[in-house]
Formats: sequence, structure tokens, C-alpha cells
Amino acid sequence: MKFLRFSDVCASGFASGKRIFIRADLNVPQDDAGNITEDTRIRASIPAIQMALDAGAAVMVTSHLGRPTEGEFKPADSLTPVAARMGQLMGRNIRVVANWVDGDFSVAPGEVVMLENCRLNKGEKKNSPELAQKLGALCDIFVHDAFGTAHRAEGSTYGIAETAPIACAGPLLAAEMDAIGKALANPKRPLIAIVAGSKVSTKLTILQALAKNVDGLIVGGGIANTFMLAAGLKIGKSLAEPDLIGEAKAVIDAMKARGAAVPIPTDVVCAKSFSPDAVATVKAATDVADDDLILDIGPETAQLLAEQLKKAGTIVWNGPVGVFEFAAFENGTKVIAHAIAESSAFSIAGGGDTLAAIAKYGIEKDVGYISTGGGAFLEVLEGKTLPAFEVLARRAETP
Ligand code: 3PG
Repeated sequence: MKFLRFSDVCASGFASGKRIFIRADLNVPQDDAGNITEDTRIRASIPAIQMALDAGAAVMVTSHLGRPTEGEFKPADSLTPVAARMGQLMGRNIRVVANWVDGDFSVAPGEVVMLENCRLNKGEKKNSPELAQKLGALCDIFVHDAFGTAHRAEGSTYGIAETAPIACAGPLLAAEMDAIGKALANPKRPLIAIVAGSKVSTKLTILQALAKNVDGLIVGGGIANTFMLAAGLKIGKSLAEPDLIGEAKAVIDAMKARGAAVPIPTDVVCAKSFSPDAVATVKAATDVADDDLILDIGPETAQLLAEQLKKAGTIVWNGPVGVFEFAAFENGTKVIAHAIAESSAFSIAGGGDTLAAIAKYGIEKDVGYISTGGGAFLEVLEGKTLPAFEVLARRAETP
């Protein structure tokens, strides 16, 4: 997909002295007192801002934070703590501007201002044409750098991309687009996807889309339990969706028809209750008792999957394969994580739990690309063209 890159705009010298509006995704977790508990998205957004400053631009950056009610400001919705953290990381003061839609504020070349939570603006969520016009009028160049929000067609992610004089992709969005293209559009084979999580229903469309493309589809968590049922195995009291057995069978058949496979666990780790101190018992997948809960894949299965991952050309990872938060049930996810780290494959990972597993096993540097997107990453795996990608590609064709 062709799109204009902000790096190219800057390299051409065009950004100097211009007003640049950067839509970042600074939607970071906070504790009850408003302290930021995880700042990856803030750090990931800094290169675009620095690029704009280095180019001599006047920089406006905004983001949503949570899901506030439009037009109703509450202190908890404010980007002030985010601006403070970003200022700390960049070694500069970042002024927060409220009520900015009509452009009643100043920003000088070499300065960065943070425009207060864009979801407070009326018309943001539904991308009202009036708001889009006002947003576009604020800048000379719109930079979309919010991959985490690339699946939303809102005023500050989509409307402004249509109305701004120039619309381009910031370095984070461009890197995400490049990594996704490398993994899914033109992958080095074999391409192995790991899709795990509690429910098939939330990831059914992803499984169906991947079944048309991947060479191996590893399922884990509650999803694997439903696939075990589809394969005729008993799963005791484990989390599963028996009404989706038909869909699971269809995914298995679609993979088989392409000469590919969905590996069904041959052994599992069971417990009698869902708790960190529950006794863990490794069992053959054929021996699961009526009162068992499957909380992880077994060591034999983990080893087999690890072998496959080590031979892969490309790996896409979304979701831990067991309850990795409990020490007794973390082995499957740990083995998979280390296999990904040791594989020479290009790997891309995304999703909150997956990022937590990557952090837990310290393999950040060994994963090819770690996506900042949650819902956006999942929609990409579903094979959807995200609104951000669509609008930027269109603007690149007809500026
Ligand atoms: C996220 O955290 O996934 C993004 O910031 C998108 O947030 P949203 O689901 O509220 O649009």
C-alpha cells in the first residue's frame, strides 16, 4: 500500500516553519491516582515529534485518553500527566492546550504543544464533517502516527486526513505498516501464526482469515480447548465454546485443504481449580477427566510447537497459550516465547497479554516487531484494511 511518509516530507525540507498536527496514540494505562503505569506508547510516539522539531516545524500533538463523553471535561480525562511524562522523556516543557478546535492558541516553530484529549471534541467519535474541516484548518501537514487507533475512523484519525493540506504516515504508523506487510502480505515461508486467548468467538474472523494464508495455525488457551472438542477430545470443565465446534472444524478443514495444519495438543496441564496454587498435573490429551480444567499445553506439545517455530520463516503471535500469570501453568507460553526469540524467523507480536508475556520472559529484543496496537493489530490479522491505511493511501493517490 502506497502512502506518503512524514520522513520523506521532512527530508524534502517542506516541513520547515510549517504547522504540524500529529495524531498519536497516547492512550496509556493509569492507576487510580492518575499515575501512568506503562509508557510504551508515549515513548513510541516521540520519534515523530522529534522528527517534526528537527525539521523546524511548529508541533501540535494530540491523542485520545480513555473514552470520555464529548463536551464534558473531567480532570481524569486530561492529557496533562501524559504531557508531563513526554516532557520528562524529551527534556522539554510541553504545554497542554484546552479548547483548541477553533485554533485560539499559538505554537511557534521549535515548540511542542499537547492538544487536550481529542475525544472531548464534539463530533470526534462520529467524524462530523464540521469538526473535520476545523481540524484540517489547524495545520499545514497532518501526521497520522496512532497505529493503536488506526482501526477507528474518527475526526482526528480520519476526518482530518481528508481535510488537511497534506496527510502522511508518521514513523510509528509507517513502521507498523511495513512490519505487517512483511509478515502477512509477503511473508517468508513457512508462516506460522499463534492465536490464543479465552474465546474462539472473539477471534473467529482472525482464525478464518489466517486459515487462508498461514502454513501452521497454533491455537492456545480457551480457543485450543474448543479445537480439542472439534477433534473429538474431552476437555472436562475447561473454558470452551461448544457451539463453535462447527466453526473450529471448518478452520481445521480449510487448513487441511491447503496442506497446512492446526496442531491439536497431545498433552495438557490440568488443575481442579483456577488458582495460582492449584496442583498442576500433566496429562495426555486423551486422559482429561470430567472435573479437570486445562490451564496450559503440556511439555510434549510445547516442545513440538517450539520445533515448528524454530523452522518458521515468519511468525505472527497473538495471545499466550496458557495461564502464564500462574507459575505452574506458564511453561507452554514460556517455551513458545523462547522458541520465537531463538528462531531466525521474522516475528511480529501484538495484543496486551502477548506484550505482558514478552516482558515477563525478557525477549523484547528478539522479537522482530512488537506492535503498539491492541484492537488495531487484531483487525489487521482479520485481513481488514484499517481506515488509517485506506485514507492515507487515497491521499497519496490524489493529494
Ligand atoms: C487502544 O487502547 O486499543 C487504542 O488506544 C484504541 O482505543 P479505543 O478502543 O478506545 O478506540
